[in-house]
Amino acid sequence: RRMEHIRNFSIIAHVDHGKSTLADRLMEFTGAVEEREKKDQLLDTLDIERERGITIKLQAVRLNYKAKDGQEYTLHLIDTPGHVDFGYEVSRSLTACEGALLLIDATQGIEAQTIATFWQALEQDLEIIPVINKIDLPSADVERIKEQIADVLGLDPDEAILASGKAGIGIQDILEAIVNKIPPPEGEEDKPLKALIFDSYYDPYRGAVAFVRIFDGEVKKGTKIKLMSTGKEFEVTEVGAQTPQMTQLDSLRAGDVGYIAAAIKDVRDIRIGDTITDAKNPTDQPVPGFRPAKPMVYAGLYPTGSTLFEDLRDALEKYSINDAAITYEMESSPALGLGFRCGFLGLLHMEIVQERLEREYDIELITTAPNVIYKVITKKGEELEVRNPSQMPDPSQIDKILEPYIEANIITPNDYVGAIMQLVQDKRGIQRSFEYIDKKTVLLRYDIPMAEVLFDFHDKLKTATRGYASFDYEFKDYRPGYLVKMDIKINGEIVDALSFIVHRDKAYRVGRNIVDKMREVIPRQLFEVRIQAVIGSKVVASARVAPLRKDVLAKCYGGDITRKKKLLEKQKKGKKRMKQLGKVELPQEAFLSILKAE
Ligand code: GTP
Repeated sequence: RRMEHIRNFSIIAHVDHGKSTLADRLMEFTGAVEEREKKDQLLDTLDIERERGITIKLQAVRLNYKAKDGQEYTLHLIDTPGHVDFGYEVSRSLTACEGALLLIDATQGIEAQTIATFWQALEQDLEIIPVINKIDLPSADVERIKEQIADVLGLDPDEAILASGKAGIGIQDILEAIVNKIPPPEGEEDKPLKALIFDSYYDPYRGAVAFVRIFDGEVKKGTKIKLMSTGKEFEVTEVGAQTPQMTQLDSLRAGDVGYIAAAIKDVRDIRIGDTITDAKNPTDQPVPGFRPAKPMVYAGLYPTGSTLFEDLRDALEKYSINDAAITYEMESSPALGLGFRCGFLGLLHMEIVQERLEREYDIELITTAPNVIYKVITKKGEELEVRNPSQMPDPSQIDKILEPYIEANIITPNDYVGAIMQLVQDKRGIQRSFEYIDKKTVLLRYDIPMAEVLFDFHDKLKTATRGYASFDYEFKDYRPGYLVKMDIKINGEIVDALSFIVHRDKAYRVGRNIVDKMREVIPRQLFEVRIQAVIGSKVVASARVAPLRKDVLAKCYGGDITRKKKLLEKQKKGKKRMKQLGKVELPQEAFLSILKAE
């Protein structure tokens, strides 16, 4: 039977454990890519991804492999994003597979994301093949990793394949294991079409393209399809697979992985996790588990410099055609004017959006400090969702404020456990468990308020552990917190875009730090700038930026040409990401001071 010779799999790993390198090797070995036409790392397509070494867009490559049993197999390698912001997309792409290679760096061992993705794969009932990677390195410690595989993951360490994506070791063993251990897909071609969308992207020629796993039925050019979450219908213009080029095929059938194009204009019509069926002969059961992407972090985006509100609006409209996860709505800030409140999957997602808007759409913008979504129970018993701290109701009307918590996994050498406990305690974390995963390595589990993780947690964790600890999290629940709104006044006026929510016990410290931080980043102006942190009418901390003295200015305009040049350079640079507030100019850093203020 046809499906007997199909295998669908993903590679799951902690960041930097060598996923892309191994994927390239597999493509090379199976002849999908010639060495010379191989661009650095083919699976990562966007520039920014390449620069950051992070995979954002999932894609699926079809490989042909002639196994030792003499049979030809079709392997679909489904890429998964490597960052916690995209956890839902990881789980959807795993649903499209029957098996996964669990890649572990032989010099690093199991890290937080190894465990997180391992659990996700287990939940999907995948066949998991452990691969110990980078064994070409002298510091590889295969025995230690085998111990971890047995103790932490409960897998048979003798099943682990020793490999090096870079040196090309173990590649055929991996392909043989895929063929022999991962079960072929199940499904029926004669049943109505049932296809899971696990990724999408916008193609200027094809329109919005869906990457799908076909569970039942068949789809081809001309098929009238229906998207089950919205009921929208389209006619298929093309189906195909990435080989790795986009290659048109006659049809996709049960068990296959590939893409569907149907002249769909908006990528938001193609929701990850949704099911595509045949409009004329629909399936009665979608693939379970669909949920629309839900933003976890909000921030204000405001035009600055020569960018107008309309420019930002157009850019966001165009950008969001290719990013179904971003949400945005207009908001107006007394301080910053017209802008947008945008919802992101997480902080990394936010940074990527900001960078792409600036780079690809030539937009100059200011972002306000990101915040989580708070739930407020009013004294009247209503529940409100607050996505913008400046819109927090007056304290006299509030019964309770609830904030989101995450469940965090931290894996660390035991030397740093003390430092981590200190840090997490400072972030209001609650320890859930403490477990040795080998003689020197500890797995810590915590519940931590999400807001605390937004603010510099990652950096602090890295510093406290010299980069040796790894961290992963997922949203857990909402819990009441003793929270207050803090406002920042500049020369006596509240700047709404600087308001934030803080825990009462930390309010003084944070208030003090934030005004100090702002004093450092606000350039001196011709007049004094007063900065105050206030809760209600109570001043918690204050600082001042002294005015420029005239003679300082005069000096700059003397004959020293290099100095003058430097000053001009500086002014030019400073032009980017500055916002005029009345008479005061505030740089981008001032808006993000809260991130560094703890
Ligand atoms: P993300 O896309 O960020 O998740 O990273 P990745 O897991 O795809 O890792 P990638 O393949 O980009 O490799 C990370 C680093 O490890 C790169 O500097 C690679 O050159 C290196 N690397 C990957 N595989 C091997 C290997 O087998 N041996 C050695 N020595 N280095 C490797």
